[in-house]
Amino acid sequence: MALLEGPSVRLRPPEARDLEGIFAWYNDAELVAPYDRFAVDTFDEFVRSVEEARSAPVALGPRFVVETRASPEVVGVVGHYRPHPVLEFVDVWYVLGKPAARGRGYGREAVGLLTDHLFATETLERVGATCDVENVPSYRLLEGLGFRREGTLRSALYHHGRWHDVHVYGITRAERPPARPPG
Ligand SMILES: CC(C)(COP(=O)(O)OP(=O)(O)OC[C@H]1O[C@@H](n2cnc3c(N)ncnc32)[C@H](O)[C@@H]1OP(=O)(O)O)[C@@H](O)C(=O)NCCC(=O)NCCS
Repeated sequence: MALLEGPSVRLRPPEARDLEGIFAWYNDAELVAPYDRFAVDTFDEFVRSVEEARSAPVALGPRFVVETRASPEVVGVVGHYRPHPVLEFVDVWYVLGKPAARGRGYGREAVGLLTDHLFATETLERVGATCDVENVPSYRLLEGLGFRREGTLRSALYHHGRWHDVHVYGITRAERPPARPPG
């Protein structure tokens, strides 16, 4: 079972004890999706999405919880999926469901761990991400990791009653130096 350790957070696969807490975040539109599409699932559907994400490359469910190391607390979730049927890349996504955990570098560390894990375990040359053009924390997180803005999709995402433009980000294997083990 993959356990990804960074200086401040670790990523581990979701366990049964995590699911109700994460599901509660999923049902708070302003918490997890101020800049994203929001859909309320039933708890059963949510649990199924976690199960699917254990194996299916296209699955959108959470693949890892983000847990602080100092006093273990689950503060977020991250995932990845293959968004295109032909092109060979994976997109990452990330949510810190605990607002108090934001702005401390946990999000960037978690996405860095996930990106390194993907390059280490898959034959990918590119990891991507997309975000609403208004989602400043999201694209600054990516840029701090070395992701480059590759373009902007116009009117690509509908949420909160209107269409939104979306930035496309990507990083290649060559741009991401090999991960160092935590000190
Ligand atoms: C996006 C998210 C994961 C960022 O995680 P985080 O741990 O708060 O971010 P970090 O502390 O690692 O900071 C990343 C960058 O964002 C900046 N940032 C963080 N919060 C910010 C805010 N409220 N306004 C502007 N910039 C902000 C940080 O300064 C940092 O950039 P810098 O190093 O260039 O200064 C978190 O805000 C979140 O969960 N948002 C809701 C869900 C979401 O939008 N997910 C992404 C969908 S594409």
